[in-house]
Amino acid sequence: MSELIDGKKVSEDTREEIAKGVEELKSSSGITPGLAAVLVGDDPASEIYVRNKRKACEKVGIYSEEHKLPAETTEEELLALVNKLNNDDKIHGILVQLPLPDHINETNILRNVTPLKDVDGFHPENVGRLVEGNPRFISCTPYGIIKMLDYYNIEIKGAEAVVVGRSNIVGKPVGMLLLHRHATVTTCHSRTKDLGEVTRRADILVAAIGRANFITADMVKDGAVVIDVGINRNEEGKLTGDVDFANLSDKVSYITPVPGGVGPMTITMLLWNTLESAKLSAGK
Ligand code: GUN
Repeated sequence: MSELIDGKKVSEDTREEIAKGVEELKSSSGITPGLAAVLVGDDPASEIYVRNKRKACEKVGIYSEEHKLPAETTEEELLALVNKLNNDDKIHGILVQLPLPDHINETNILRNVTPLKDVDGFHPENVGRLVEGNPRFISCTPYGIIKMLDYYNIEIKGAEAVVVGRSNIVGKPVGMLLLHRHATVTTCHSRTKDLGEVTRRADILVAAIGRANFITADMVKDGAVVIDVGINRNEEGKLTGDVDFANLSDKVSYITPVPGGVGPMTITMLLWNTLESAKLSAGK
């Protein structure tokens, strides 16, 4: 029998801890952590993320503001806003919602968010620090995955960890975090030969591909821990992960559901990073 990894529960407990930390910072140094979210265009999924972020901030006492810009915003206009936020003392975390419209150079924008407020952990300085093993801000989804594994006392040290997907947001950083925690890490992608042969070795399997039900039961070892990062809509419009949950859940030891697994942790770790950033600015 497998156990569900309940991202909502881990999130609730972590958010309580964050709310306490926010309160302590306010009373000890008069600083209220502040997060600015920047949204360009009207991608419905991104609007939902940003709305959820706002509500989550309110609940833990973090000040938040939203900057909604039209799809035709130029790169220069967006850079001007980023610069303004870089220099705004109320703001400790800046989040530029991805994806950006095609005419804007995403890399250039992310490089212009000051690394001291880069709570997404996307700036090359923060990516470099993560690789070096001296992280400042860790990207929220990978960080949330590690938090969940720890919450359930799942041993990372010595485990065979297989990550399917090599994105800058999830695949690469989660591989690095697992490596720092002494897992043996293999990263797979669309050109991997005989993917099943590799995934069947995994004690911990992280699926971050972006294709519904891509990981099938025959690709997973009995008793593995399966972390599903996917958020896809199937033909009926229902939210589904990258993992064929129905056929796999009896075979594994732990598995994250979609929704209610990794998803809630991403916003939680964004709040966490914003609090950490505010503490850094207060010299704590
Ligand atoms: N789009 C999808 N995931 C993320 C994320 O973690 N951060 C940002 N900024 N945009 C995203």
